[in-house]
Amino acid sequence: MFDRLKAQAGELTDTDILSLFEDESRAETFSVRFDGMLFDYSKTRMTGAVRDSLLALAVSRGVAARRDAMFAGAPINETEGRAVLHTALRNLNGGPVEVDGQDVMPEVRNTLSRMERFSEQIRSGGYRGQGGAITDVVNIGIGGSHLGPEMATLALSPYHDGPRCHFVANVDGADITDTLKGLDPATTLVIVASKSFTTIETMTNAETARAWMAQAVDDPAAQFVALSTAEEKTAQFGIPPERVFGFEDWVGGRYSIWGPIGLSLMIAIGPTRFREMLAGGEAMDRHFRDAPAVENMPMMLALTGLWHSHACGYATRAVLPYDQRLARLPAYFQQLEMESNGKGVTMAGAAAPRTGPVVWGEPGTNGQHAFYQLIHQGTQVIPCEFIVAAQGHEPALAHHHRLLVANCLAQSEALMRGRSLDVARALMTEKGFQGEELERQAAHRVFPGNRPSTTLLYDRLTPYRLGQIIALYEHRVFVEGVILGINSFDQWGVELGKVLAVELEPVLRGDAPADGKDGSTRALVNFVRGSED
Ligand code: F6P
Repeated sequence: MFDRLKAQAGELTDTDILSLFEDESRAETFSVRFDGMLFDYSKTRMTGAVRDSLLALAVSRGVAARRDAMFAGAPINETEGRAVLHTALRNLNGGPVEVDGQDVMPEVRNTLSRMERFSEQIRSGGYRGQGGAITDVVNIGIGGSHLGPEMATLALSPYHDGPRCHFVANVDGADITDTLKGLDPATTLVIVASKSFTTIETMTNAETARAWMAQAVDDPAAQFVALSTAEEKTAQFGIPPERVFGFEDWVGGRYSIWGPIGLSLMIAIGPTRFREMLAGGEAMDRHFRDAPAVENMPMMLALTGLWHSHACGYATRAVLPYDQRLARLPAYFQQLEMESNGKGVTMAGAAAPRTGPVVWGEPGTNGQHAFYQLIHQGTQVIPCEFIVAAQGHEPALAHHHRLLVANCLAQSEALMRGRSLDVARALMTEKGFQGEELERQAAHRVFPGNRPSTTLLYDRLTPYRLGQIIALYEHRVFVEGVILGINSFDQWGVELGKVLAVELEPVLRGDAPADGKDGSTRALVNFVRGSED
């Protein structure tokens, strides 16, 4: 499938990215603008011919038809027999969306209105805990029921005017202990966020939170909320229906920030801002559906990604937001991309070719002083995806922001330009080195350059922009998944470890033998048991 592109990558190996800018229009030709955002992929080895091949691949793999099927509510998550309709959660200005002949939009709107009323009650102090107005909200969830609200609440902290929000995910008791420390149970609201309401980490933390609250509050259930598709289970846990915000199985966990799973974010920033985020996502949906492929931001982000991972053979990609408030975005994208496209089997059940790349990253400029060394001079090429706002939220600190942006742009320039041996020699000569020592010192100061990067630039990180960015990456993952022929919407690969953990817990407790286990696992169990107090 990628033969032609691999051949093109081979032909371009020695092409200097910088030399491609002899074409004065390159920056314009190899970028996409949409609604206040600019996606620049010109600092890559992409040429017109490569792009044509990528676009032809997208056509031959039926991306447009699959996209339309997704938006239309077809069961494109074939291994689970489900529609994929997180887009319906933000379809507030669109028409009906049918699943099995039924329009889901009335229920989507109804749930959103309930969330809005409840958030306003919490924010205004109308809904109170035993000790008065709610001061703190603790969202307990993991994976898609955690990363989205946590990432977005931090991202939008300039808009935060509701109670403090905290996030607990890890079953490690340290997480909930450190989070609850200092909180007043009488003015805390606990949100148990779990699509399945069976995830062991979440349920264990929820029970611990309930016990903590029960020590100080007469009716702890009154300060609990559930976000889930599993109404029976939320009832068994003791949360009454009026504080259960449900959604359907056509919302995948890692795509669920747009609905009830976003409740903590809505409480933090208010329903109006939350709707702005939905509007940003909806605008990206319309763009994804309507824009011609070459002007289509998700499409070109996806095709650039595939060019790097599947034609050029780069095994990882770095997501580098130059925004401290996007510190959790790389982790969010890690789940979005790696849980969606980290598959070894095609939709048809055959062995898949190499699938999604490893995604990782940290905010800039911090990363520059940590791992950029390898990105610049290491032996692997790591395509970098820079993300940055032209303006910050701190007008009094505009000089900070200018420095931030200067660093971001400088990195993509440095990665492309590099520094030649001649320039390094000249630098070392100026410092007084000569002969062999000059050669030795200069060699260390060479930057190979020619390293690809893309930049996503926008005016300011508003709720609307964040909605656009999330939806942009969601659709990018979708396009990549369709082209790779895999199901981006299941996650069977997380199951085995869960099953084995449940088996091992009684072994660690000493209530079951470790007999069937391998020697390594037995030795590890013995070490743990031997260290018990
Ligand atoms: O274990 C993986 C996973 O199923 C994710 O896909 C999901 O986002 C997370 O666990 C949490 O699941 P739930 O919302 O059902 O607790």
